[in-house]
Amino acid sequence: MSKKITKICCIGAGYVGGPTMAVIAQKCPEITVTVVDINEKRIAAWNDTDLSRLPVYEPGLDRVVEEARGRNLFFSTDVDKAIDEAEMIFISVNTPTKTYGKGKGMAADLKFIELCARQIARVAKDDKIVVEKSTLPVRTAQALKSILHNTGNGVHFDILSNPEFLAEGTAIEDLHAPDRVLIGGEDKGAIEALVQVYAGWVPRENILTTNVWSSELSKLTANAFLAQRVSSINALSELCEKTGADVNEVARAIGTDSRIGPKFLKASVGFGGSCFQKDILNLVYIAKSYGLHEVADYWEQVILMNDHQKRRFADNIVTTLYNTVSGKKIAFLGWAFKKDTNDTRESAAIYVADHLLSEQAEIVVYDPKVPAEQVYADLDYLNTRSEDENRRLVTVINDPYEATKEAHAIAVLTEWDEFKTYDWDRVYNNMLKPSFVFDGRAILDKESLEAVGFDVYTIGIGD
Ligand code: NAD
Ligand code: UGA
Repeated sequence: MSKKITKICCIGAGYVGGPTMAVIAQKCPEITVTVVDINEKRIAAWNDTDLSRLPVYEPGLDRVVEEARGRNLFFSTDVDKAIDEAEMIFISVNTPTKTYGKGKGMAADLKFIELCARQIARVAKDDKIVVEKSTLPVRTAQALKSILHNTGNGVHFDILSNPEFLAEGTAIEDLHAPDRVLIGGEDKGAIEALVQVYAGWVPRENILTTNVWSSELSKLTANAFLAQRVSSINALSELCEKTGADVNEVARAIGTDSRIGPKFLKASVGFGGSCFQKDILNLVYIAKSYGLHEVADYWEQVILMNDHQKRRFADNIVTTLYNTVSGKKIAFLGWAFKKDTNDTRESAAIYVADHLLSEQAEIVVYDPKVPAEQVYADLDYLNTRSEDENRRLVTVINDPYEATKEAHAIAVLTEWDEFKTYDWDRVYNNMLKPSFVFDGRAILDKESLEAVGFDVYTIGIGD
């Protein structure tokens, strides 16, 4: 018989920890869920009475938080207390690509994970189930086990791997009705205790249990396969542009083959987000560390293709604008890495902007959910030019009509639905002529924009 869990703690109140725990609390009112973080500003935002100021923007998240917060969902900076009281501890901290030392630019940086493990070991006075929710290199559970059992107070820890598959922008839908929940572990009782939590709302047949290594590796594999589809269709988008084929038609034609399937075949300016690149680099690094160089090269190509797609989108803007964008105003519609999120990590927009700024363009950004300070922080982080120069060359305006006024060109970087609803005659009348649109998401109707007078380039569609 496994123990029925009544107290959960989650370390890390980010894009995964916040929504995931909010849904567990919503669906399991008998479990007290405390989400902790060292970032005081973030915790304060999770506790804000104004739900429009939650730190993560996700459709439907505000309603879930409203229902559970203060009932059985709590956000706190008191990490020790939450660890001490919990029977089950989720680790959901960030695991970015290393920026220093061995494996720099490839391996996952596990320092935050290790800090959590040491803190759990120091604080825990009774047995705990520790759950890896963060995405981790295969075999991390072994390191966690060693730290927990060698630095702890003699209590017993069971370690489970329970990777998260939600996508930003649809996190609540994905959490409410996941394709599957994956739980890897050794101890049957510990596995069953976590199965019981999810069984509160997920059908049993959708809860898969495996050994811990399969679970860890499946998460990296899932992201690699998804990103590979995007790079595959993006590779074909370039060929479509040269041959007069239309990538959307090609995607539809191949996606109706049930073995291929219709999802994740949308050509774009390149995939972004905090995970695809990081997780593939991690996979490549792991393969290399086992001496599997062909395996490493195979997966690395998904990233190289993605870099190429971002670069060629920017290059095409320069070429089309008579080989110079110096001093020209280019309006960016969208900065987030996809629609329905305020997350900008690894967004293609950052790299396209950086390239155009190096060509001395002036960029005006409009995004419905991304504030100016985030746009500047993203550009400053690249360290390509001074912070002053980024602020001199880039303006962020929260009105699309103002942002596009007197621009030479518009570049669509994110597929926000509202872009399709604009009064494009009005936009055209206020722009310099000829007025160019570079649609990096293929969301605008090319023919009707051309009828308005625009010169339109759409990713994946040749002339
Ligand atoms: P995030 O950066 O939004 O959140 C991580 C949080 O952990 C931060 O708020 C940080 O302050 C906190 N933290 C770090 N060290 C801490 C410590 N020692 N004690 C307390 N708090 C600490 O990251 P995220 O996007 O939520 O991703 C978390 C993990 O989930 C990553 O491994 C990621 O790969 C994985 N993942 C992310 C997504 C996604 O869509 N973002 C989806 C699936 C899996
Ligand atoms: C992705 C996976 O979809 C999740 O299952 C996974 O849990 C998550 O990574 C993670 O581990 O972090 P996410 O990055 O939030 O989720 O968003 P996606 O919908 O996968 O989009 C990633 C990028 O690919 C976006 O920039 C998106 O615009 C782009 N994309 C996606 C395309 O260009 N074309 C497509 O057809 C699909």
